[in-house]
Amino acid sequence: PQIPRFEMPLRIPPVLSPQYSDATTDYYEIKLQKARVEILPGTTTEIWGYNGLLPGPTIRQRGGNPLTEGRQSVVRFINELGVDARGCDIDAVIHLHGMASLPQYDGFATDFIPTGYFKDYIYPNDRAATIWYHDHAIDKTSRNVYMGLAGMYIVEDEFERNLPLPKGQYDVPLILRDAFFAQTGNNAELVFDNRNERSTYGDIPLVNGVPWPKMEVANRKYRFRVLNASASRAFQLALSRKADRLTLGEKIAVIGSDGGLLEAPVVLTTPYQTLEIGMAERYEVIIDFSQYEVGESVYLRNIGFTGSIDTDARIHTLMRFDVVREEPDDSRIPNSLRAVERLPIGDVDKVRTFRFERSFNQWLINGKGWNENRVDANPDVGDIEIWEFVNPGSGWFHPIHVHLIDMQMLDRNGMPVRPYERGWKDVFHVGEFEKVRVIGEFGPRNPKFVKGFIRGKFMMHCHNLVHEDHSMMTVFEVGQGGD
Ligand code: C2O
Ligand code: CU
Repeated sequence: PQIPRFEMPLRIPPVLSPQYSDATTDYYEIKLQKARVEILPGTTTEIWGYNGLLPGPTIRQRGGNPLTEGRQSVVRFINELGVDARGCDIDAVIHLHGMASLPQYDGFATDFIPTGYFKDYIYPNDRAATIWYHDHAIDKTSRNVYMGLAGMYIVEDEFERNLPLPKGQYDVPLILRDAFFAQTGNNAELVFDNRNERSTYGDIPLVNGVPWPKMEVANRKYRFRVLNASASRAFQLALSRKADRLTLGEKIAVIGSDGGLLEAPVVLTTPYQTLEIGMAERYEVIIDFSQYEVGESVYLRNIGFTGSIDTDARIHTLMRFDVVREEPDDSRIPNSLRAVERLPIGDVDKVRTFRFERSFNQWLINGKGWNENRVDANPDVGDIEIWEFVNPGSGWFHPIHVHLIDMQMLDRNGMPVRPYERGWKDVFHVGEFEKVRVIGEFGPRNPKFVKGFIRGKFMMHCHNLVHEDHSMMTVFEVGQGGD
């Protein structure tokens, strides 16, 4: 059957309340469950979801300096997933992507919660950012995330709350992904096809789990926290007054990236400026619907993407905003948002190079595949390093994710990176034939908030989840001497 476009309302994932709280900490509980939910109208689909939802519930947590305002969270994840179609236990790993967690709470790919068990994870919430939690089980991450194991986690602090940005109901998560369904009668089952271990794509775009939704908005500014939760699909976003082509002059203001607010807003204007968002990246944007009259609509389009083999035309329009009412707007976009202190290139302790390549049926880093005992880098606590990410091939781009720390992009093939890539980030878009240089300090972003720092083993990998599962992942170890 035909799936109607721009008729189903956008859903907002529910915000999870703590089970209880004490002076320093909020305690949450999330169950990993199978559920049958309606995604395509008139059918049900089996998903594997946090609290049985796709996407999972949003955690909104107060963060920042733990001595004055920040709160810690403890999340109990209870794995009730049972077995998969082949009768194998679905063991889960929980990674809160973007949090500086201790190694035992970071979701190392072999640190399973077996089905029938739970584990409590402690998160420090040391800085404000839009981050997300998702499965990280070795070799099974792409399937598990594709089946629904992903949710948003928003850390807010006093500084950000005091900015005049849109808040409350005007601060909206948009979790993008694609999916492929096999429909028989009233069943529409998710089909996970990893195309011979290369990538997995779907022909239906979901925004917060709804295909081609519409959202009714007032003629004012909204803040959208955009996350690309696809296994393999990147998006190149732009607004347009037309569903099938780009119109001139529509504006999106980018205010934040993976690690929080940018220094200053970056305004993108259709058709020449678009927002590229690879897998696992987050960008926060402001759309000012006062550009439009009540009664007008504007589409969020995806204008195709170089470096992706899939150019399915059905994915070219993701959702529609209908401007349905007038409302006063006292929010504004400040000219300067939050200072981003540049890491000093002169103080670099080490430069390392990582090559991301396909070889036979494997995706490799520096010629080697995954081995949990392999350690590719040994930065000491407080070391500043430049990491060069090299993609020598064509046909593929790799969104490279470094756990634990936020880094800053220096350049791409020696040229400046896009203006909205200049803030704190934890995923770096490495295109075909590109060399991307990033700089990072293996210490806390806010040294005054943390005594000492986290030591131990963390992962670095491609966030095309099929590449990750087929071996494009390695380990670095912080604070054990060595090099
Ligand atoms: Cu978003 Cu190592 O993962
Ligand atoms: Cu990759």
